[in-house]
Amino acid sequence: MTYTKGMLRDDALAGKVIVITGGGTGLGRAMGEYFLELGAKLAICGRREEVLAKAAEEMMAAKGGEVFYKTCDVRKYDEVEAFRDAVLEKYSQVDVLLNNAAGNFISPTERLSPGAFDAVIDIVLKGTKNCTLAFGKDWISKEQKDKVVLSITTTYANTGSAFVVPSAMAKAGVSAMTRSLAVEWARYGIRFNAIAPGPFPTEGAWSRLMPGDIPDMLKVENQIPLKRAGNLQELANLAAYLVSDFAPYMNGEIVTIDGGEWLLGAGELNFLQAVPDEMWDWIGEATRKGK
Ligand code: HXC
Ligand code: NAP
Repeated sequence: MTYTKGMLRDDALAGKVIVITGGGTGLGRAMGEYFLELGAKLAICGRREEVLAKAAEEMMAAKGGEVFYKTCDVRKYDEVEAFRDAVLEKYSQVDVLLNNAAGNFISPTERLSPGAFDAVIDIVLKGTKNCTLAFGKDWISKEQKDKVVLSITTTYANTGSAFVVPSAMAKAGVSAMTRSLAVEWARYGIRFNAIAPGPFPTEGAWSRLMPGDIPDMLKVENQIPLKRAGNLQELANLAAYLVSDFAPYMNGEIVTIDGGEWLLGAGELNFLQAVPDEMWDWIGEATRKGK
């Protein structure tokens, strides 16, 4: 299988400046490393300076290229504007905004304080709004075209999910923003897409969603038709394509990459997977009798 390898040709993102919120860890870092390999320059932000500094250094050592970093809390519009201005001072342009930063944890909703609810909604929904508005306004005011906003949502933005209600509500808002602005800002030459990943093990997600013995309750082989979790490179391949000039007609799309996980939970008769082969002979006979 080649899904653990890069997909696009080496210069596919040459000359592009890509901003990744939350780019110092997890999926943001993995996508960033592949973008670097493809010739892009990066600007990453997050709240923890030491995490960003270490990530930038390691990413450049591993992949070459340039990684600019600055602390920025995406919940605060003035910090987002300061980050944008610093990126522009460094690179003079921004081509892609990747809204990747998020907050999340599992909890019965009745146990959440209003502040706990806000902690997640403010990072995911308000943070994505802040970044999109700050970078988008700049592109529009300068009449710059061929820009891309890619946001990372989740499969449960559509279906909803118990125990992550603030995240589900916020990610649903990001999906709505993606589809709305794909139409509204097309006239300014800005494309909007999103990726809805299923489970891709990262320290950030697993420490908050799968603590302790909970991974033992999640049987990947039962929950995901393809019977494995996602690999970071296959997500990076999809993201690189969507932000590249190979995807200029992709606009307003939310691409699910989850091994079929959400559909397994949705299909009315999917439970019949549990039926053994030998029983299908009997079922064949039994159902023919009904004609
Ligand atoms: C209940 C909690 C809580 C928890 C925090 N709070 N954690 N309540 N259960 N586990 C409450 C606090 O008591 C506080 O309530 C309020 O939330 C704010 O908490 P702070 O710690 O002050 O917030 P903050 O420092 O802003 O941290 C935000 C955070 C944290 C979301 C709580 O986890 C974080 O920084 N996360 C960033 C990274 C992350 O979450 N990555 C995972 C993304 S994975 P009061 O009442 O005092 O205000 C993902 C994957 C989805 O999205 C799909 C997977 C398949
Ligand atoms: P992660 O490593 O915890 O990534 C979250 C990043 O967001 C961190 O770098 C964090 O840095 C940053 N961040 C959080 N709050 C911020 C704020 N207020 N301002 C700026 N940056 C902030 O988790 P991940 O798994 O890679 O998740 C990345 C994205 O993928 C998220 O959008 C998540 O919802 C999505 N996703 C993940 C999975 C999965 O299985 N891993 C599945 C579906 C969707 P600081 O803490 O330093 O600020």
